[in-house]
Amino acid sequence: MARAIYPGSFDPVTYGHIDIIKRAADIFDELTVSVLSNSAKSPLFSVDERVNMLKEVCSDLKNVRITSYMGLLAEYAQDEGFDVIIRGLRAITDFEYELQMAQTNHKISESVDTVFLTTSLEYAYLSSSIVREVARYGGDIHNFVPDLVAEQVYAKAGIDRNGKQ
Ligand code: PNS
Repeated sequence: MARAIYPGSFDPVTYGHIDIIKRAADIFDELTVSVLSNSAKSPLFSVDERVNMLKEVCSDLKNVRITSYMGLLAEYAQDEGFDVIIRGLRAITDFEYELQMAQTNHKISESVDTVFLTTSLEYAYLSSSIVREVARYGGDIHNFVPDLVAEQVYAKAGIDRNGKQ
């Protein structure tokens, strides 16, 4: 039985992430989506907020659970008995960093391999940072994230539900 982990910042979760989650959940017996909790970045959402949003958007996926982790991903994956790390590739620009990370993670924990899923074309442009940027200027983010996520992004940015400050 193959157990996979899909790690990330998910700040916030987007339709691009959800697409990868659904496709990975179809391939692997168990999928854990895990939020990094000690990033050097200053996130918009706390780890608990990101975990809770992921739980809500994944509630209908029976073989998916949500966690958070601290420290090195490869060590967490090995300690928790995951066989595979899932990462999404949107474009060739993602590849160099992702290849380096996959090779480093495999060097740290040889029992863990990385599997890349190519992002569906309709989400190839999408990232959490783009969502935060559009929301910051009061733009409409409902094509990028589920409604419950959009509401929380606007609330953080001090913008009402119609996208107006
Ligand atoms: O969504 P992101 O920000 O692209 O995800 C990157 C993430 C969180 C998966 C990665 O930065 C991570 O796991 N960092 C924890 C520290 C670590 O293990 N780094 C990899 C060694 S190269």
